[in-house]
Amino acid sequence: MAESAAPIGVFDSGVGGLSVLREIRQRLHHESLLYLADSAHVPYGEKSPEYIRERCRVIAAFLVERGAKALVLACNTATAAGINELREHYPQLPIIGMEPAVKPAALATRSGVVGVLATTGTLKSARFAALLDRFAADVRVITQPCPGLVERIEAGDLDSAELSAMLLAWVEPLLEQGCDTLILGCTHYPFIRPLLATLIPGDIRLIDTGAAVARHLGERLAERQLFSIGEASHRFYCSGDPRRMARVLPILWGGNGVVEFFAN
Ligand code: DGL
Repeated sequence: MAESAAPIGVFDSGVGGLSVLREIRQRLHHESLLYLADSAHVPYGEKSPEYIRERCRVIAAFLVERGAKALVLACNTATAAGINELREHYPQLPIIGMEPAVKPAALATRSGVVGVLATTGTLKSARFAALLDRFAADVRVITQPCPGLVERIEAGDLDSAELSAMLLAWVEPLLEQGCDTLILGCTHYPFIRPLLATLIPGDIRLIDTGAAVARHLGERLAERQLFSIGEASHRFYCSGDPRRMARVLPILWGGNGVVEFFAN
């Protein structure tokens, strides 16, 4: 089989995409990874699609210049706004995006009511509307934007009393309406999954897409014979304060890493 030791480029508005990067590392442990946190521009969720598309263009160009053999948009909001344009611009490159797990949730629900926690940008997008049309014809889907949640997670708050109160205010109305399945439709949210699980009944399912994205990435690399068999390296870039990101890496990535400044 042919091989490629080139890295995989992964990005998000901030540290949320590390939840996806962990899944990629676990599944594809020979792959070298470049991760870019666009922290100077977080949150994407409240910004216009044009603004996010411009960020996608700049970041993709940087990762491709550093030799990325594939790109992963580890961000539901950036996927909704920018993946079509990136795929047009880089037709040869495997480009993997994320979308809220509506299909698995529609299959999993027994009550027929599914809640989606995601950013305003994701929930307002045409891509999300198309996803509902395709997979949610037989279930009721209730959407809940969570403004302010990404900023809390970026600041390293994964378990405060204030955060618990915010989560309850969003989630309780969904449960009262019969949701038995909640979609974590933003890559930051898996980091508050342990807290959320303590706030809701144990039989409510929480679904996210990080593992599915890693699996899909593996399939795309296999199709093109792009697997790496060598030793993996992991590099981190950040458009915000690299020291701040380096401080949260041990918690969110499970290891230390040097974070370089991405001046753009
Ligand atoms: N983590 C991102 C997502 O999956 C974006 C969060 C944000 O910057 O608002 O949607």
